[in-house]
Amino acid sequence: MTHWYEHAIIYQIYPKSFQDSNDDGIGDLNGIRQRLPYLQQLGINTIWLNPIFVSPQVDNGYDVADYFKIDPRMGTMKDMKALISACHQVGIHVLLDFVLNHTSDQNEWFKKAKSDPHSQYRDYYIFAGANNQRPNNWGSFFGGSVWEPDPAGTGQFYFHLFDKHMPDLNWRNPKVRQEMLKIAEFWLAQGIDGLRLDAFIHIAKADLRQSFPVKEIANENDQTIVAEPFFANLPQVQKWLRPFCEEIKKDYPEALLLGEAASANVNLAADYTAKDHHLLDSVVTFRYFKDDQRHIDPNLPAAVQPKGLDWDAFKKTQVIWQQTLGQVSQPTLYWSNHDMPRLASRIAKTETQARSLAMLMYLQRGIPIIYYGEELGLKNLLFTAKEEFNDQEAERFITKAADWGLTKAEALKMVSQAHKMPARGPMPWTAKKPNYGFSKVSPWLEGQSQNNANVQAELDDPDSMFNFYRQLLSLKKTALFQSGSFYLLATANDSYVYQRDLANDSAIVAVSLSSQKLRIKLPSEYRKVMLTAGQHYLNKDELILMPYSGVVLSK
Ligand code: GLC
Ligand code: CA
Repeated sequence: MTHWYEHAIIYQIYPKSFQDSNDDGIGDLNGIRQRLPYLQQLGINTIWLNPIFVSPQVDNGYDVADYFKIDPRMGTMKDMKALISACHQVGIHVLLDFVLNHTSDQNEWFKKAKSDPHSQYRDYYIFAGANNQRPNNWGSFFGGSVWEPDPAGTGQFYFHLFDKHMPDLNWRNPKVRQEMLKIAEFWLAQGIDGLRLDAFIHIAKADLRQSFPVKEIANENDQTIVAEPFFANLPQVQKWLRPFCEEIKKDYPEALLLGEAASANVNLAADYTAKDHHLLDSVVTFRYFKDDQRHIDPNLPAAVQPKGLDWDAFKKTQVIWQQTLGQVSQPTLYWSNHDMPRLASRIAKTETQARSLAMLMYLQRGIPIIYYGEELGLKNLLFTAKEEFNDQEAERFITKAADWGLTKAEALKMVSQAHKMPARGPMPWTAKKPNYGFSKVSPWLEGQSQNNANVQAELDDPDSMFNFYRQLLSLKKTALFQSGSFYLLATANDSYVYQRDLANDSAIVAVSLSSQKLRIKLPSEYRKVMLTAGQHYLNKDELILMPYSGVVLSK
């Protein structure tokens, strides 16, 4: 049996930044609905929306205060229903982001857990420790300890892997598991087509008395370590997730369950997605991208520096994921998302390379996920105020720029290129300054455009990045690229060349990763050009690729 999602081409929308329909500076659901013709033109068939539920927006919606209501800044339930049905009318599926590892501290459950230690909601969260002593030395992903003192002053602490305003749910408690299932099914009943399970690999935690071993214990209360082995991918994740997924699939067999498995290696990815394991359909890993250590200045904090990609590691990782998941599930294929800088700022050296890398990634076997604006070649914004980053480390670095030998402008430029927030800027629909057709007022997140890319200009230009993506996606939809087998050809590390085969149909995707002209030996029967990025020349048994160029050739 085949499911629609095996052929999904996902477009990730950051709702606050896509289109503002009522001119309050914040993108909204009606704005997305207005722009469906654009998405149809691009050729995607699924949208994934970052969180849209009621939230104090400490972490841009990943802190959910009410799972059953739409954040009024983004619209109403009526708007959501209108969006779902408008999408379905044009054959676009809708995925929602589902935050299941934690809630906002403004969620009713947490408010009750806090105000009454004897309420049943206390056990919805993870309270531990006594006499103001933290249970262990684990550190949060967002800095500092995972433990925050119980505001009620009991001398206990509550657990948060992310911001302190985002307490972790206690999945050990069967009631929590039931509640989360209820929420998921509530949204599926509204007609959505699937869920992106946010940070699901963290729902299980090790014995909380267990500190992470450190060399030397200076002052136990000060030292924290991001102790991933104690809260990522533990076996109970699968145990608790299985009934959740099974129930959903029983009631909604066509629901796509897409998991965010940031640190999962390929074997775990196979575990999470094997059909007979009754868990997820596909996962997103961050393991695709290893930083090029040679480009990191050891004297500056790593988080604020632009980092290149380690291409050797990338090539190996890609082919291993393609091979290992080949008979198991569809890998996800992506270059960027809201948690990293944009492709054109982070990796692609030229516009040609942005194209050839898209070609390389999305024509492999798997489900593309295109981050909004990537199809325009959009770059990270340049921020002019440190507060825009919404990140303590970034702010500290810019404040103290002089200590690092940088001017404030230089520091802002550096962090703007390296950080995730400048990748979340408003979609530029027109060239019209200052708000580029996104809104009539200043957008919620403002910065300077780095390449003036915009929809209007690109729609009209047959050679634009947008029109390249259109061609690429229409090629992706052919049977060969949907279902063909994949294998990597043995070429040097300055190129990435693979073949897709399906019965008698066959194509080679050849991409240069080099700033030099490259010569690659190729079987002479592959001479029909299906798609080009940059420039190439074909001789009898040889392909010549100009810097960072790519080409798709068939027989
Ligand atoms: C995921 C999201 C990220 C968020 C975190 C906490 O990693 O992608 O944006 O901050 O979960 O919900
Ligand atoms: Ca709005």
